[in-house]
Amino acid sequence: MTGIAVIGTGYWGKNHVRTYSELLSEGLIDKVVICDINEKRAKELGELFRIDYITDYRKILNDPTINGVSIVTPSPTHFHLAKELMEAGKDVLVEKPMTMDIAQAEELVKVAESTGRILMVGHIFRHHPAVKELKQRIDLGELGSIRIMLGNRFSFGAPRKDMGVIYALGIHEVDIFCYLVNKEMPLSILADTRCSLQDDIEETAMIAMDFGDTTGYAFESWIMPAYGKHRDLVVVGSEKVAKIDYLKPQELHIFDMRIAEQDIQDNVIFSVENEGSYTIPIPYAEPLKEELCHFIECIASRQEPISSGTIGMRAVRMAEAALMSAKEGKKVLF
Ligand SMILES: NC(=O)c1ccc[n+]([C@@H]2O[C@H](COP(=O)([O-])OP(=O)(O)OC[C@H]3O[C@@H](n4cnc5c(N)ncnc54)[C@H](O)[C@@H]3O)[C@@H](O)[C@H]2O)c1
Repeated sequence: MTGIAVIGTGYWGKNHVRTYSELLSEGLIDKVVICDINEKRAKELGELFRIDYITDYRKILNDPTINGVSIVTPSPTHFHLAKELMEAGKDVLVEKPMTMDIAQAEELVKVAESTGRILMVGHIFRHHPAVKELKQRIDLGELGSIRIMLGNRFSFGAPRKDMGVIYALGIHEVDIFCYLVNKEMPLSILADTRCSLQDDIEETAMIAMDFGDTTGYAFESWIMPAYGKHRDLVVVGSEKVAKIDYLKPQELHIFDMRIAEQDIQDNVIFSVENEGSYTIPIPYAEPLKEELCHFIECIASRQEPISSGTIGMRAVRMAEAALMSAKEGKKVLF
């Protein structure tokens, strides 16, 4: 029997609720309960999906029919909720960023170890079909050696007040760059931020991550209407270049292009080799559904999630380093 609770049914939590309700009707889980301190919100969503709702998460702690909990509340609340739930014997999927500082992230990883609970973090792009396809092709050497990774996330909307773009968006890039090149951490991070609207809460950031042979560049902004809601990733290899539009999980674009080098009498000549571009179709799967199915599998099998607490903790460490780099105006070395 797998019973799931979702705590927090705001902008993102309602997507968890919708997806679990699909899994419920597909018979992959047995029960869903939703919880929000905003009763109106919980009631509306509960009625929409015909799911029970509560307003006090403490009711979940002693409920033997609930074994897994999605925590989709504002990030500053993640630490105490995840800790209390794991200590009460619940497996936990906590949204990203896992916590707002590294000490809390380290403690959650320790609590998961000492209690034997599953601790998964909502690093959704590790569950994105096009990212998984790209990762396989990189590992097989199809792109050659990876020279540059470039991630862009632009939108135009009211900025969050609880965190800036580094913790809200850049946390995805820092994790995905490490994932794609099989590294736990970069050698260094250099970042620059702009806080035009709120003191100390950046609405635009540029992050450069040095991995030695490869550099990852991330550009995040909430005040950029020029591209619509824009989220993409470009990976430049020595043999081919790949591009993903994160909003289209069913497509991976390949540019069969490279800069060739020829050594003619001690003189290096560069030339462009262009064999065209094409799109690889990928069977459609919704990244959030993939993520929640993985959580359910981990609950049943006790395997470590591919977006584990340790992965979430490293992402927090990198986000913290990026903020420190921007503040101090210098590279942070690991
Ligand atoms: N993985 C992703 O792509 C993604 C996307 C968006 C947001 N997020 C993350 O999801 C989390 C929530 O973000 P959001 O934009 O949905 O926030 P939100 O403010 O829209 O919703 C948060 C909800 O949590 C409720 N809440 C707060 N404290 C609670 C408590 N103690 N018990 C029960 N309910 C409580 C609030 O009433 C609210 O309804 C954040 O950590 C955010 O970073 C992840």
